[in-house]
Amino acid sequence: MQGVTKRFQVDEIYIDVLRGIDLKIEGGDFTAVMGASGSGKSTLMNILGCLDTPTSGKYFLAGRDVSALNDDELSLIRNELIGFVFQQFYLLHYATVIENVLLPTIYRHGKNSREKTNLQEIALELLKTVGLHERAKFRPRQLSGGQQQRVAIARALINDPELIICDEPTGQLDSNTSKGIMAILKELNERGKTIVVVTHDSQVAAHAKKILYISDGMIVDK
Ligand SMILES: Nc1ncnc2c1ncn2[C@@H]1O[C@H](COP(=O)(O)OP(=O)(O)O)[C@@H](O)[C@H]1O
Ligand SMILES: [Mg+2]
Repeated sequence: MQGVTKRFQVDEIYIDVLRGIDLKIEGGDFTAVMGASGSGKSTLMNILGCLDTPTSGKYFLAGRDVSALNDDELSLIRNELIGFVFQQFYLLHYATVIENVLLPTIYRHGKNSREKTNLQEIALELLKTVGLHERAKFRPRQLSGGQQQRVAIARALINDPELIICDEPTGQLDSNTSKGIMAILKELNERGKTIVVVTHDSQVAAHAKKILYISDGMIVDK
């Protein structure tokens, strides 16, 4: 990112939420982003994750300028390159665990039945990675918060993204469960995934290789 800004307008008032972010994340990095509530962390993650675009400045993802793409172009890039994990899990409650994990493949692969068998196997393998393969047919409400977040991690991995963006992934979890989630992210990073985690918990941030501090829409030394 080079000089990335984000300005929101609410009625006649402009809010400059990001005020010139210069940032370089390399493939294979494991970066934590810390900062007070309202400092712009989620706004930054939304741009990093191609859910939103900067007001000004440049963002290059995998060598491509993605600062000014339209929604369709951004959604293609998201589906191909990025996995998301949020504080609120955002699982579908009427769907089973494995159906939740497979959800992002609907947009990517269509409904080819032969591929589907393969995808089922991949989804089960991912559920094994997060320790939940025996819960494949459960519904989210039958799982604990930590287990639901592990389902969300498996879902984030189903399209084999290079970059995994986690916005307060442990914000709803107790400290022991949080450690388990961070251990999974660490293992994924060791397998080559690039990971960015927003947190305001320094114990959670300590799992990352690098910590960035954001204050009032700017990256600061600490
Ligand atoms: N869509 C929006 N419209 C207006 N203001 C917003 C919008 N999104 C975020 N903000 C404002 O930007 C500031 C930073 O928000 P956010 O990035 O969510 O911070 P953090 O994740 O660090 O708590 C807050 O003051 C918030 O109210
Ligand atoms: Mg936030």
